[in-house]
Parts: sequence; structure tokens; C-alpha cells
Amino acid sequence: MNARDPRALDVNGLTIRTDQGRTLVSDLSFSINAGSRLGLVGESGSGKSLTALAVLGLLPPGMNASGSIVLREAPDAPGTEVIGATEQRLTGLRGRAATVVFQEPLTALDPLMRIGGQLAEPLRRWRGLRGPALRRAVAEALEQVRLPDPDRITRAYPHEISGGQRQRVALAMALACDPALLIADEPTTALDVTVQSEVLALLDGLVAQRGMALLFVSHDLAVVSSVTDHVLVLKDGAAVESGSVDDIVRRPQHPYTRDLVDSARHLESALERIVR
Ligand SMILES: Nc1ncnc2c1ncn2[C@@H]1O[C@H](COP(=O)(O)OP(=O)(O)O)[C@@H](O)[C@H]1O
Ligand SMILES: [Mg+2]
Repeated sequence: MNARDPRALDVNGLTIRTDQGRTLVSDLSFSINAGSRLGLVGESGSGKSLTALAVLGLLPPGMNASGSIVLREAPDAPGTEVIGATEQRLTGLRGRAATVVFQEPLTALDPLMRIGGQLAEPLRRWRGLRGPALRRAVAEALEQVRLPDPDRITRAYPHEISGGQRQRVALAMALACDPALLIADEPTTALDVTVQSEVLALLDGLVAQRGMALLFVSHDLAVVSSVTDHVLVLKDGAAVESGSVDDIVRRPQHPYTRDLVDSARHLESALERIVR
């Protein structure tokens, strides 16, 4: 038996450099317990996406990570070190230990393949489903992300549905293999404000229902504070401050965090949610 360890993700001294030696993320440490939520917030270019990609071993070519990133599928499962892991090992981890939803759902979707076929792929691969059971699972996955008319969506190509619908499909794909950790990188930034709050509410509900850990990445502190309980503030690739959403929003210590608080859109509604 392995000793129980509550951390779904444990990042220690993560440093990301280009092959030319430019440091883009430096000495970052944080952890997320099973079922807990952490927001990663910072201005554009602060290193949020690179951090998210590093967690899944998906850094672009020409970049390397050092330090340690451990993913754990369950508190009694052994952790797996992502840095230095083989591609085969990483493929086994992505999906079950952690999956990601990006800002632009089209990056996750194949433009030439119908939605139903794309959604079937992780269900077939991870859950071994075939035939009618697979078709039922595809329909259920679409229902779960509240897509109306699943028959139509199943037959549609990505360009035939709206941006909000595409992000719901991307979310359904990310959830298909029941990951321990969901990474959402600006998942609603490209959406209209009303659609944005619908997709946020959906994500919030699904993460709670499944007891998943969540790493939520956004430049918008108001959005981050509406779905997470703890926040890490990134500036130029380094952590400047971290704490509970309540502390960060009400008592920011660092001037940069104060600027983020001041510039956060919809801050009042975020505060209302915190007070609630
Ligand atoms: N493929 C890349 N090659 C070189 N530099 C990159 C690459 N991707 C990102 N960067 C740089 O790394 C820094 C952090 O980028 P990123 O993590 O995408 O920021 P964020 O997601 O916070 O907006 C930025 O300065 C960006 O220019
Ligand atoms: Mg980004």
C-alpha cells in the first residue's frame, strides 16, 4: 500500500527556460489537493499557460522545464514525476491524471471530424466502450455539458456549432476519462460575457459534482475568484503572492496584486459571490 497523499498536483521549484537560456518561469511551487481548486492569475505573458502546459508535459519545442511536477491520480496512488517522463508515460497520465481545456476550443477539436466521432475517441480509448454503449456514452457526455439537441451536435462539424457550444464539447472531451485534475486555461476568455458565465457555472458544477481538483488559469481575477478558493499571483514568471481568494481580493499585499484587483472586471459581482 502507498501512503495516502492528498496532493493531486505538487509543483516544486518549477523553472522553464528557452534553449537560448531565457527564463520564462522561475522557481514556482504550489500544490493542489484532490478535490481542491487553485487559481493562477497574472497579466498576459506572466507565464500562466507555460505553467499549465508544463504540468501535462506539453511545453513547446525549444523549451525545457526543471524542478519537479508530480501528478497523482488518487490519494493512495503513487505520484508520477512529469519532468523527464517518457512520452509513453505522459500519454498514460494525460486523460486519467489530468486534462486541459484551452481558451480556444478549436485547438482541441479536429475541424474535419464530426463532434460525435471526436468525443467517442477518449471514451473508446479510456473506458473501452464500443458500439451502442459507446453511442450512449457520447450522448450522456453531451447531456452532461447541457448541450441541447445532442443528435444534431453529434453529427455536426466544429465550425457548425457556436463558440460556447464548442467549449462545452471541449469540456466534455476533457471530462471523458474522469481526470483527477482539470486544468482550465482561460476557458471562457474567448466567449461573450453571457455565454462566459454559463460555461463558468457549468464547469464549477461539474468539478464539484465529480470532486475533481481544478487549476484555473486566467488574467481576470474576478473570473478566477468566482470559481476557485485559493489564488497564486504570477508576475514575469514568478509568484508574487498567494492566499485565499478572500485575502487576495480584500487585502492584496503586493502592488501588482493591487493593480489586478483594481482592474478586475465585474469585481463587485465576484465579491458578492465571496460574501455569499
Ligand atoms: N513558444 C514560445 N517561444 C518563446 N517564448 C514563448 C513561447 N510561448 C510563450 N513564450 C513567452 O513566455 C512568456 C509567458 O507566456 P505564457 O505562459 O503564454 O503567458 P500567459 O499565459 O500568462 O499569457 C511570455 O513572455 C511569452 O512571450
Ligand atoms: Mg495564456
